[in-house]
Amino acid sequence: MSGDVRLEAKRGTLEETRADLGIVYRFKGEATASGPIGGRIAGRLIEVATEDRFEGRPGSHLLWHAPPADGFGCRRYMLLGLGRKEDLTLERFRRYLGDALVSADRFGAADVAVPLIDAGAAPFPERDAALAVAEGILLGTYRFDRYRSEPRPGRRYLRQVQVMAGDASTRDVAAGLSLGEKTSAATNFARDLVNEPAGVLTPQRVAEIARETAAEAKLGVKVMEPEDLRRMGMGGILGVGQGSHNPPRLIQVEYRPEGKPARRVALIGKGLTFDSGGLSLKTSEAMETMKCDMAGSAAVLAALRALPELGPRVEVIGLMGMAENMPGGGAIRPGDVLRIMNGKTVEVRNTDAEGRLVLADVLSYASTFKGLDEAIDLATLTGAMVVALGPMAAGVTGNDRDLVDAVVRSASRSGEAMWPMPLYSEYMEHLRSDVADIKNTGIRWGGAITAALFLKEFVRPGLRWAHIDIAGPAFGDKDYSYMKKGGSGVGVRTLIRYLTDVAA
Ligand code: BES
Ligand code: MN
Ligand code: ZN
Repeated sequence: MSGDVRLEAKRGTLEETRADLGIVYRFKGEATASGPIGGRIAGRLIEVATEDRFEGRPGSHLLWHAPPADGFGCRRYMLLGLGRKEDLTLERFRRYLGDALVSADRFGAADVAVPLIDAGAAPFPERDAALAVAEGILLGTYRFDRYRSEPRPGRRYLRQVQVMAGDASTRDVAAGLSLGEKTSAATNFARDLVNEPAGVLTPQRVAEIARETAAEAKLGVKVMEPEDLRRMGMGGILGVGQGSHNPPRLIQVEYRPEGKPARRVALIGKGLTFDSGGLSLKTSEAMETMKCDMAGSAAVLAALRALPELGPRVEVIGLMGMAENMPGGGAIRPGDVLRIMNGKTVEVRNTDAEGRLVLADVLSYASTFKGLDEAIDLATLTGAMVVALGPMAAGVTGNDRDLVDAVVRSASRSGEAMWPMPLYSEYMEHLRSDVADIKNTGIRWGGAITAALFLKEFVRPGLRWAHIDIAGPAFGDKDYSYMKKGGSGVGVRTLIRYLTDVAA
């Protein structure tokens, strides 16, 4: 596996430090370099930029080997184009910086010096800038190389990054870097879980990992096995799991703050370790990446793992509904009726609409908790949401406008793309069944909305609930810069931000 990268906040300018590589920012259309660079090196690099016609196009690089006679502290400098100053956001900055470090790793830089970014449309607060530096580096250099003989460039050589703070408070910068280390480690942990092949990562294996994680992070943990699920009347999760040789699990992980919590929140994750569709079998192509169907549960475990170190004053109960959706002699059939924990019966029309059957039980279970203020679920629930928002963004809906807005706000602050979606109750008529209380599929149109309406049937009235459909961004089929091909860890940063903001 890739090694760890150490981040260090340092007073002073780039010119004042030694490293294998120093990064120098250049905005398009500006005659100077940006950030705490130092006059002599900035001047020299601007000459280099002019000579080589480097204009500062967003994300472009230019490498310059410093002649030893010039007496600069770094052996090489890289000009990093940031585009037009007024267009720069911290999210874009994260991407450009992540890519720059991957290319630095390609030529073997172990020790890199990076100036704190100091200007977009408005100057970024130092702590947020430092957070973006850390996330850009640590998320951008992530690789899943466990099964490769040769690791890919990312952090083969990279070991240390000095973040040059100029005369900013190194305390603020160090605090931002440290937060970024935590959010990135959590996100990369979720990515590892999603990228792990489904033949390895079975519901039982996830339960073991949850136990180990809980022991390390000092979280409470409880694993419910099939007998327990039967006793509790969870016909949804059991039904979905019954076609597989890898039986289902419901995993409960808990974080309790010191002192009286300001709020009690349940985080619920869809955890289909593989979704073949069941008897309503998917096409080969649609199945290729369905190991990602547990991404919601991965985000829940990853966020919980980060909480003890961050210490927000909110009690959090993580619930991961783990099952494998397979066809087989014992599998549920279209037409079967399942009884969910809250007593409602469901006619299974399509065994590929399995996530909502699992979540129905988990939401019913969460609804029995005393004193719970709100529940937030994350699920790779519908292809329809991918059609609606494309592969980059998650859709957010729920039964409480304020909660939905708060989640979307936290997403936006953390750099994750999430957008509100409606929940038109008129479409409930599409879920009417001839034999049971409700059926598990509606009509083709508005599939993301009918899926969410289905879930709402299992949320106790009065419990504030938000639903995040991450089917689009959970798994990339190409690199979107620091969002790497494969598991993205989407949701982790939003959840951490939300939980630390509500109980600040
Ligand atoms: N896990 C899928 C949804 C999905 C699609 C996730 C693409 C990630 C990428 C889900 O279980 C599913 O199969 N949904 C069906 C529902 C339909 C049968 C009503 C879908 O969206 O096609
Ligand atoms: Mn499915
Ligand atoms: Zn699924």
